[in-house]
Amino acid sequence: KQIPTGFPTDFLWGGATSASQFEGGWNLDNKGLTQAEVTPKSEDRRMNIAEATLASIEAAVADTTDARYPKRRGVDFYHRYESDIALLAELGLKAFRLSIAWARIFPKGTESEPNEAGLAFYDKIFDTLNKYGIEPIVTLSHYEMPINLTIERNGWFDRKTIEDFTRYTEVVFQRYHDKVNYWMTFNEINAAQWGFHATGAVDFGLPENEQLSIRYQAIHHQFVASAIAVQQIHALDPDAKIGMMLARMQTYPLTPNPADVQAAQLADQLNLFFADVQVRGEYPEYMNRYFAAHDIVLDFAPEDEATLAAGKVDYMSFSYYTSSTTSVDTHDVTDANMAMAGVNPYLKASDWGWQMDPVGLRITLNELWDRYRKPLFIVENGLGAVDELTSDGQIHDDYRIDYLQQHIEQMKEAIIDGVDLMGYTMWSPIDLISFSTSEMSKRYGVIYVDQDDDGQGTLDRIKKDSFFWYQDVIKTNGENL
Ligand code: BG6
Repeated sequence: KQIPTGFPTDFLWGGATSASQFEGGWNLDNKGLTQAEVTPKSEDRRMNIAEATLASIEAAVADTTDARYPKRRGVDFYHRYESDIALLAELGLKAFRLSIAWARIFPKGTESEPNEAGLAFYDKIFDTLNKYGIEPIVTLSHYEMPINLTIERNGWFDRKTIEDFTRYTEVVFQRYHDKVNYWMTFNEINAAQWGFHATGAVDFGLPENEQLSIRYQAIHHQFVASAIAVQQIHALDPDAKIGMMLARMQTYPLTPNPADVQAAQLADQLNLFFADVQVRGEYPEYMNRYFAAHDIVLDFAPEDEATLAAGKVDYMSFSYYTSSTTSVDTHDVTDANMAMAGVNPYLKASDWGWQMDPVGLRITLNELWDRYRKPLFIVENGLGAVDELTSDGQIHDDYRIDYLQQHIEQMKEAIIDGVDLMGYTMWSPIDLISFSTSEMSKRYGVIYVDQDDDGQGTLDRIKKDSFFWYQDVIKTNGENL
């Protein structure tokens, strides 16, 4: 068999966003609030995503300004989508990942009829993308659900939420299946093990095992809902592709001590559990022991096993920002996405402490391909950094170019290794609000947005040096790196 020499010709070069960080328009056209929009920006730089209480949520719902909630304002894609998509077309994107805000379609989550104004908004987005030949990659839930579902029934902890979600997905699939070919169900579904922002269930302050019980039950309901969504879209359009999405954390043993190696294997299993269920259609055995050790008894309905088996995904997608080390001995840890990672002395970290590990991406790609034999899709990867605007209005972000270049190089190596990689949507083509810290100044874009942490600025878009670099990478299909 011939060894591939580089990226396939139909490779989906792209960029990724999420509704709650990008759109703004949080209270327009009947939209309801979501978890992301009731979580205030904290002075503590570290994530403050899970510390919600019912009282804090109700106070946030009563607050009708965006002053404390930057994700409510996003970067105004809601009004600027035409010029933003024109810029993405100029960049040369073949694919654009975005999420649909469930609360635009069902503001409270429990209605029987959808909100037409919300549906019309995404029609305009998909039509504009299609006009430029950019493939939409749609996440059905990116850390957002109608906040009313938290208040009424503790989010995904309640099995009834499955029905609300499947009513939403049925409406969305019926409406857009002619315009969208690629779907994914829950963004970073494993983030639900970290709580509220992903489960919509309030568990702040409970003892650890109780928290875990709530979270894994919520996750089980998400698995079932995801498997139903897979069946819905396949029934409607057998050619549509629907994937699962994992926050992948490559984990190394800190030392060759077998106890460290075993601990790293367990950490890896706890990460891959989410993909195992959604790709293979059943729970893996190793989780039984973990559940027993944490007094977790999951409530399975009689039909759940069959639903999971019938709802296997077509591809596996994941975010990749950083890697981790594991040891049975005490060792240093650092921030890593929504969680913490063991420090690796061989790696440098970003200004936010996220360790940068391009080779880890190649290792991960090989491991995931070996394990699942399903097409892989990197749907987030990028560098959060402070950018400086020069006096003549430019941004020389060579650090971002370095980061992206090194990761793309390793993707190419993995393809030559034989991995089936379908695309890469870097996070994020246009600056947006950081999820874990709600900062604007933590920027990922190749396009700068003139807005500061307090929401001041013209919102003008400015191409950074990385824009021209990525444009050339896409134009040459990854030959010029
Ligand atoms: C991913 C999320 O975990 O990381 C995105 O899916 C998020 O929503 C991205 O924005 C980067 O994290 P942060 O906290 O720097 O915005």
